[in-house]
Amino acid sequence: MNANSFEIIGLGGKKGLSGKVSISGAKNSVLKLMAASLLNKGKTTITNIPDNEDVLRMIEIISDLKGVSVKRSKDTATIDASKLNGFKLKEDVAKRLRASVVLTGPVLARVGKVSFPHPGGCVIGSRPIDLFIDGFEKMGAKVKFDQKAYTVEAKSGLKGAKIFFKTQSVTATETFMIAASLANGQTILSNVAMEPEIIDLGELLKKFGIKITGLGTPTITIEGQKEIAISAVEHKTVPDRIEAGSFLILGALAAKKLVIENCQPKHLEIVIEYLKAIGTKIIVKEDSIEVEGAKKLLPSNIKTHEYPGFPTDLQAPMAVLLTQALGDSLIFETIFEGRLNYIDDLVKMGANLTLWDAHRVQVKGPSPLKGRELEGPDIRTGFAFLIAAIIAEGQSKISNVYYIDRGYEKIEEKLQSIGVSIKRVN
Ligand code: EPU
Repeated sequence: MNANSFEIIGLGGKKGLSGKVSISGAKNSVLKLMAASLLNKGKTTITNIPDNEDVLRMIEIISDLKGVSVKRSKDTATIDASKLNGFKLKEDVAKRLRASVVLTGPVLARVGKVSFPHPGGCVIGSRPIDLFIDGFEKMGAKVKFDQKAYTVEAKSGLKGAKIFFKTQSVTATETFMIAASLANGQTILSNVAMEPEIIDLGELLKKFGIKITGLGTPTITIEGQKEIAISAVEHKTVPDRIEAGSFLILGALAAKKLVIENCQPKHLEIVIEYLKAIGTKIIVKEDSIEVEGAKKLLPSNIKTHEYPGFPTDLQAPMAVLLTQALGDSLIFETIFEGRLNYIDDLVKMGANLTLWDAHRVQVKGPSPLKGRELEGPDIRTGFAFLIAAIIAEGQSKISNVYYIDRGYEKIEEKLQSIGVSIKRVN
């Protein structure tokens, strides 16, 4: 963990930002692409890898597995899992990284056994794993829990199964897509998540030769194979729609003109619709988006929803934007019960927010914000605090930058390049 802070001198409401920002590969895709690489007995090369803390932690867990090597250079990693036979996920790291749970799929499918701690990650809600346990049992595995770790075993391999998820879950969908690839027979996953990162993973599985249909729909069917042994597979990670959306929201608040490059605008349709309705000028091109800050922002009611609905990961940044809109807005966070954890800090900065319950907050605007000391409690709230500090009057200091670094690559360099006065201090 790093103990760095960011010092930011705010724009005091001025539209002071301009220039171009290039979007990195998606954190929430690359972590799963790396996990899926463990299926292959050949070498799998993933490109467009963002340089962030979560990626480093994932590489740490994968490299710790017996029989796996990872070679990293710049934004590329080559994973050789030809001799994978380890089954224990490195406990101290896995319990801090939610995405570590996705490794259970390939390790169980390849080795017949996996042992792992409860996967932690950002404290944004209870983050249970019941869907994983149910699914593995349906595929014929036995699950044990001994206070510290879960052990899942499928001595004679996983069996294809029909799994209906009672809740749409991104990591559960991904884990079972991966596990089913080496199961005996067909697996039908229903009520799956439809995020672009899931399609990206599906595209890699197709390169492995897996027959998979229904990507991007609520039902995915996978025909399991005995083994995957493709000597060299290469896959480019999809651009990070949450990073792009974070900059879009920042641009809507504080840019003369900002160009967000190397993104896929079609993954941000709902965010773009909302920002236009709120009064922002946005021009969408094939792989870039231009945004100009609006003189007057209108209020809006936002309800988070699984893709293609409004992403929960952009809910906190959007709340900051709505503090500057004229009138009453309502935010309804439907996915996680711990994601309105920014209220007290924004109120101390001058925002007028009323928490109705664990899922709903009312925002009355516009309220000019004043700089202050902040501590980012998770990745996305960390970015929301960056936005708040950038638009505020005066200086802010954001500590616990570790969380922002988990999800965003070279964030201060990107922000400096568009005119933000931001400094990393130790
Ligand atoms: N859920 C269950 N049981 C389970 C699993 C999930 O009830 O076994 C519930 C959760 O409690 C939640 C809902 O299902 O209410 C959806 O959660 P999901 O499983 O989809 O979340 P996740 O897979 O743990 C991923 C991203 C999150 C993102 C969410 C929602 C990764 C590594 N993380 O989490 O990203 O917020 O999907 O889109 O892919 C972030 O990047 O900052 C982040 C938190």
